[in-house]
Amino acid sequence: MMRWPAEAIWEQVAPLLPGFTVEVLPELDSTNTELMRRARAGRTEPVLLVAERQTAGRGRLGRAWATGTGDALTFSLGLPLAPADWSGLSLAVGVTVAEALHTGIGLKWPNDLWVDGRKLAGILCETAGNGAADAGRYLVVGIGINLLPRAAEGLSTPPACLQELLPGLDAGAVLGRLARPLVEALQAFERFGFAPFQARFDARDVLRERLVTLSDGTRGTALGVSGAGALLVHTGAGLQAVTSAEVSVRPAA
Ligand code: BTN
Repeated sequence: MMRWPAEAIWEQVAPLLPGFTVEVLPELDSTNTELMRRARAGRTEPVLLVAERQTAGRGRLGRAWATGTGDALTFSLGLPLAPADWSGLSLAVGVTVAEALHTGIGLKWPNDLWVDGRKLAGILCETAGNGAADAGRYLVVGIGINLLPRAAEGLSTPPACLQELLPGLDAGAVLGRLARPLVEALQAFERFGFAPFQARFDARDVLRERLVTLSDGTRGTALGVSGAGALLVHTGAGLQAVTSAEVSVRPAA
């Protein structure tokens, strides 16, 4: 097993999140799948779950997220959350991860982390009912970050890796930088929604003013995000607010 700063992370996060635990496993199908399984079985405690290797990592839109041992950091944070409005949540997570790591990281709506037109990291947010009577749900935020160079084969976007920006930072150090900011951001989101994140997203928005193609073939110019985290696209038919997580957007050639 690698060395992980589990205790230091616990000390930083537990005061914000009573009952919090850190768990590192050598192998799992997927950290998101595991926390969703636990939530459905009634286990909705706050936890940071790291897998040194995932055998069935999942991405957005039903895609696979395949990584080898040691070449990526793969983890999920699970916690009960009860925001009045969930819109923009995954964008807020992207903003937080980018800010905690490096100024040179851009965001491609809704929540990919990009470096020079290549994908550095992906985020998959899922929720399960938490069995409680209130409106809250159990949120699972899954994050995969390329640490070392990997083959571009089979990927829709060529990969970037963190080593390019922060040489010498290992998986544990990266996790140590992210854990507390992530929890703080989710708690801010729960109270204030996407509003505190909108300008910060804008500052890193790689699609802004660029020609984009939506997965239904519509083309237009991306004009930033709305207060609810929708991508605003100026198309031939007027301004369109793209909210659906099912839409994929690419910069037009
Ligand atoms: C995407 O870019 O489509 C999202 C990728 C999310 C990958 C992470 S790795 C940790 C967690 N477990 C998974 O199975 N997926 C997320």
